[in-house]
Amino acid sequence: MINIALCIYSAVKLKLIMQKIVIFFTLIQTFSVLGTADLEVGFYQDSCPNTEQIVRSTMEQHYSADLKIAPAILRLHFHDCFVRGCDGSVLISSSSSEKTSPFNAGLSGFEVIDDAKNRLESGCPGIVSCADILALAARDAVSLTGGPSWEVATGRRDGSVSSALDTFNLPTPFDSVAVLKQKFLAKGLSAQDLVTLTGAHTIGRAECRLVSYRLYNYTGKGDVDPSINTNFANILSMQCPRKGSGRNLIPMDTGSPDVFDSTFFFNVVQGNGVLESDQKILDDMSTRAYVRTYAGFDQAANSFESAFADAMQKMGGIEVKTGSEGNIRKVCSVLN
Ligand code: HEM
Repeated sequence: MINIALCIYSAVKLKLIMQKIVIFFTLIQTFSVLGTADLEVGFYQDSCPNTEQIVRSTMEQHYSADLKIAPAILRLHFHDCFVRGCDGSVLISSSSSEKTSPFNAGLSGFEVIDDAKNRLESGCPGIVSCADILALAARDAVSLTGGPSWEVATGRRDGSVSSALDTFNLPTPFDSVAVLKQKFLAKGLSAQDLVTLTGAHTIGRAECRLVSYRLYNYTGKGDVDPSINTNFANILSMQCPRKGSGRNLIPMDTGSPDVFDSTFFFNVVQGNGVLESDQKILDDMSTRAYVRTYAGFDQAANSFESAFADAMQKMGGIEVKTGSEGNIRKVCSVLN
């Protein structure tokens, strides 16, 4: 009888200890989640309810004055996210900031983000991060050019470091597909994401200096890159003459450089990719099928747009600072 009572007593005690252990671990989990809050759609709903409309109307205004703003902002967001995460570090102006790196040559559109920030600061000072403004503006850039739209989770905090030395992991048009895949994988993005996000080149332009070597001296013997369609090589040679054209800007999606569509992939399948890295995603077996699918060869052509929206949401979450990390900059081009 005494033995049975002892057994029941031990079982009850063990149960209580187990309950305490469960409560302890639940508390630890809760505190660690509080320290690193996640991004959230509508993060500014209470603190600055008009955030998304203000960014949108700023974009609309700049875009109606100059269509080139849309691709510029989209590229800016990409270059922000790949270096120290999406934390607005690309926006900083200083003698050694990311902006000064050769990897970031040709970036533009900074004034649009500064403008949106000014407008937001006048109603909600110190609330909306520059990193979020850029992520929202990039979404608007795509929808303004006829592409998809998506919900942007917000709550990013701004970084307090911006160094040109950190930009080496940005992809270049001279990288092999293996290297590009590696650079994307390091940011949690797959081979499919690489192809999908490269589709951003459906809008915007590239300088001839990044293309001419494919036309005039591909292997150092005065030859043409054999992956370029011959007719297209002739067109490119007219746009980028051998001498003095380095700074000329040429469309990366021949035929519709101001419209967000899937013709970029169709062009690549035809050998009409402008950047070498754009053309090479057709040759590599791990990326080829996605290019063909988005071009409309293997499946419905419009699968690109929804994949692009998903990939942008993924890219916008790279190494973000949230909760008590980072800060909210007062001026986007200046560290607090
Ligand atoms: C896959 C690796 C990528 C490489 C190697 C690459 C490279 C380049 C290069 C060389 C240019 C032309 C820059 C100039 O002439 O100044 C460019 C432009 C552009 N890139 Fe990329 N890019 C890549 C991925 C991306 C991604 C992921 C996005 C956005 C999601 C993006 C968006 C753009 C846009 C919109 C432009 C046109 C900019 C303008 O017209 O102002 N790129 N890219």
